[in-house]
Formats: sequence, structure tokens, C-alpha cells
Amino acid sequence: MMLNALFLLQVLGVISLIAAAVTVVRWQWQYLWLPHQIQGPRLAKRYGRGSWVLITGASDGLGKAFAQELAQYGFNLILVSRTQAKLSRLQAELGDLGIQVRTVCADLSDTSEHTYSRIADVARDIDLSIVINCVGVTIHRRYAEVPSDTLRHLISMNVSTTAIVTHTMLPLLLHHTTATGNRGALLNVGSIVGRFYWPGTQLYGACKAFIDHLTVPLAYEYREQLDVLSFQPTVMATAMATGTEPAAITITPQMAAHAALSHIGRYVTSHGHWRHALAAALFSVLPSSIRNRIFLSTALKMGEAERAKDA
Ligand SMILES: NC(=O)c1ccc[n+]([C@@H]2O[C@H](COP(=O)([O-])OP(=O)(O)OC[C@H]3O[C@@H](n4cnc5c(N)ncnc54)[C@H](OP(=O)(O)O)[C@@H]3O)[C@@H](O)[C@H]2O)c1
Repeated sequence: MMLNALFLLQVLGVISLIAAAVTVVRWQWQYLWLPHQIQGPRLAKRYGRGSWVLITGASDGLGKAFAQELAQYGFNLILVSRTQAKLSRLQAELGDLGIQVRTVCADLSDTSEHTYSRIADVARDIDLSIVINCVGVTIHRRYAEVPSDTLRHLISMNVSTTAIVTHTMLPLLLHHTTATGNRGALLNVGSIVGRFYWPGTQLYGACKAFIDHLTVPLAYEYREQLDVLSFQPTVMATAMATGTEPAAITITPQMAAHAALSHIGRYVTSHGHWRHALAAALFSVLPSSIRNRIFLSTALKMGEAERAKDA
């Protein structure tokens, strides 16, 4: 009896070791190997050389980094954001690479039908193969301190816009797959904040969890036609993450965009860069009381930087 129990324990130990080794190898493959491979030819072959990509929040930060990398791979672009001067500058820069670039200057916090029909109109006569919902806004402070107009703004920008742009563009992506035989792709930008309960930025976290729950099921609903990625980065040195510089877990938006593009078509959820995946893994093994304390104090510090910027 004793010997049997010992044998069973040994078997369980070996199985656990093998499972841990497989997890580590798979993690290294996803986060260390794939992002170092050349992505251009793979993406062009999979989605169609010279097809079009629509990016919201494209004039700055992560959206701009996606645009710059995809332009280098020969994709044509529709850039959507709020400030025409920034869009025009980027259009001129990317046009020099020999691709076509259209811009849509729209305030995406306006969730009326007019906003989305303007975007759809620009995309109607082209072969749209990829949609990247990148626009997003955040705020860091205790919930009662979030101004009520900011609360509505966050929900419009993160939740309504992502849901409606996805819904508006899906028929065009599906048309692309029928017309060309290539796959289409949908990449929705969430955040690691949506993966955990995050004191100090609870509303933003809830919005990003919404994006994840909207996005992942689509990977299965449209698995014959579309590659879908729910992308959950950690911190990037952009205007949104006020006061951050690239260091440790804070990476450049270019690093994040490149890693995400190496995962599209291969995974349904991803943290993108290995540093962000490592941060997520570490957070998930922390006891929740410690995690919540760290999250709240970092969020409140970021909130102070936001208030100083807005003052
Ligand atoms: N930065 C981070 O640490 C971080 C971490 C995790 C996830 N994310 C997510 O990554 C995505 C991109 O963030 P980011 O850091 O790159 O942001 P960012 O640098 O602040 O860029 C935001 C982009 O959205 C556009 N935009 C802002 N308000 C708009 C509006 N009302 N209507 C239309 N466009 C608007 C901006 O356009 P204009 O400037 O031209 O107005 C800009 O192109 C977001 O979904 C964010 O939640 C960011």
C-alpha cells in the first residue's frame, strides 16, 4: 500500500515536471523565438500583398508603431484618429515608402452612427484585410474621484468604439476572405489591466476586460476566415503612460507592435513582448493582497503624473 502511494507520487512528480518543461518551452517559443523571425513575408502571404489595414488611434503611440511596421511590409493603410495635422504628417512619411495611405479625422468619443459610417465609407472600395482597434484612453485614481464626464468618455472610447468598429468592419473583412481566398485579421488592443482586478484604474480595467471578452469568442465564430488576436500589453512609453521612459517592463510602442504582429495568426491572446509576458506571469503568482497593494500604489502614482500633466 505504502509502495503504491510512493510510486503514484513519483509518477505525479514526473508528469508535473514534464508539464512545467512543456510550458517553459512553449513560452520561450511564443515570446522569445517568434518575435525574432522576419514577419513581412508571412503577413503579406497570409493576408494578401498590397491589401489594406485600418488602424484606429493611428497617429501616435502604439497605433503609429503598427502603421509604420505594416507600411514597411507593403500594406496600404487607413489611419483613423482625432488630429488631422498628425495624420497628415504620418501620411506623408509613410507615403514615401510607396504605399497608399488614407486618413479619417474623427473624434471617436462621438459614438453616433455618423462617425462609423464615415470610417466604413473610406474602406468600402478597397480590399480590407486587417483591422486594428488601437484607440483607447485611461485614468488612474480611486473610483469616486473619476469625473463623471471622464467616466462616459472612457466607456465611449474603449468599449463602444471597439465594439462598433469591430461590428462595422467585420463584413468587409469577411468579404476580403471570400473575394481573395486569403485570411483576414482582427487585432483588438486590450491591456494587462483587463486581465487582473486593478485597484486605482478599475474603470479602465473593466473596459479592457470587455475588449478581451468581445474579441476572443470571435476567433472561434470566424475561425475559418479570420485570425483574431486579443492583445494585452503592459506599459509602453507613450503619451498615455504619462511620465514613463523605456526601462525594465516599460517598452517602446515599436517593440510592442512588432511582438503583437509576430503573434497574429498564431495565438488568440498575447501579451506581445516577452518582458510584458514575464510581468503578467509574475503578477499571476503573487498573492492577491500583495498584488492589489502594488497595483493601487503604482496606479495612484500614475494618477498624480496625469493630474500634473493636465494642470
Ligand atoms: N501606453 C501604455 O502603457 C498602454 C498599456 C497597455 C495598453 N495600452 C493600450 O494601447 C492602446 C494605444 O495606447 P497608446 O499608449 O499608444 O496611446 P497614445 O499614445 O495616447 O495614442 C492615442 C491615439 O489615440 C488617438 N485618440 C485619442 N483620443 C481620440 C479621440 N477622441 N478620437 C480619435 N482618436 C483619438 C490619438 O490621436 P491624436 O493624438 O491625433 O488626437 C492617438 O493617435 C490603447 O488602447 C491603450 O489602452 C497602452
